[in-house]
Amino acid sequence: MVSTQTTIGDFHFDNCLMNAAGVFCMTKDELAAIEQSAAGSFVTKTGTLTKREGNPKPRYADTALGSINSMGLPNFGYQYYLDYVIDLQKQDGSKPHFLSVVGMSPEETHHILKAVQASDYQGLVELNLSCPNVPGKPQIAYDFETTQNILQEVFTYYQKPLGLKLPPYFDMVHFDQAAQIFNQFPLTFVNCINSIGNGLVIEDEQAVIKPKNGFGGIGGDYVKPTALANVHAFYQRLKPSIRIVGTGGVKSGRDAFEHILCGASMVQLGTVLHQEGPEVFTRITAELKAIMKIKGYENLADFRGKLRYIND
Ligand code: DHB
Repeated sequence: MVSTQTTIGDFHFDNCLMNAAGVFCMTKDELAAIEQSAAGSFVTKTGTLTKREGNPKPRYADTALGSINSMGLPNFGYQYYLDYVIDLQKQDGSKPHFLSVVGMSPEETHHILKAVQASDYQGLVELNLSCPNVPGKPQIAYDFETTQNILQEVFTYYQKPLGLKLPPYFDMVHFDQAAQIFNQFPLTFVNCINSIGNGLVIEDEQAVIKPKNGFGGIGGDYVKPTALANVHAFYQRLKPSIRIVGTGGVKSGRDAFEHILCGASMVQLGTVLHQEGPEVFTRITAELKAIMKIKGYENLADFRGKLRYIND
């Protein structure tokens, strides 16, 4: 009776859990493993216009409370991922997918999105406005003027379902300003949050990753309260046609439940997927269903966005 199925735009997913971009999604083999797991979908590694090697290693480290990474956008180029999702789309029973992309400049981003628009791809695209790890390149979504200009231009030619991967915001005024921009456009979803950018983890007397003198994006337990707040802030502010994908600090069914309570329609696993592998989708789905059963909820709509506040 209990179901974790969900929808984003016109797309139906048998399960609300999937990978977060950057984890288990660099190669076709990794993506195939997510496709064959209990996940409801996958998102690809963010594809750029041309292939990138990324930053020097070590560039990812697990910690007791999560992870730190400064990968630097290593990827095979957007065409590799676009070809793969088009291939899968032709197969019977294929799940709907998310293709993650961004250019190294607005011009490159438009080049990529025009190519996706012209292609046979019929799935979702996640435009990544929140990569914190490329030296000399600030996160696009922290610059509201650039964000507005990119979206203005994109929607002059792009007509397929599009969403945004957002960084965490930390101020109520920034939630308001960002939502005011996103509500002007026919976005299908926003995904909150990318890693908390530019943290520093030290072991003994040394940074644990090499790039940027050890600075990197933080994921895992550290980020769950920030992720929940961002999911809920945008759930409250965005028009209902813009669905929320919740990402950050999910390692149990309870964590996924909290993201959905805050308004998430889909929930992504990052650090925990890196640590446990694709079998984690089976475990967390079972844990989420067990909580729903105890509470008498049959589907996500029964509790999505229904976070309770303490009122006098
Ligand atoms: C990388 C990290 C991110 O958080 C992101 O959104 C895109 C790329 C990276 O370092 O590869």
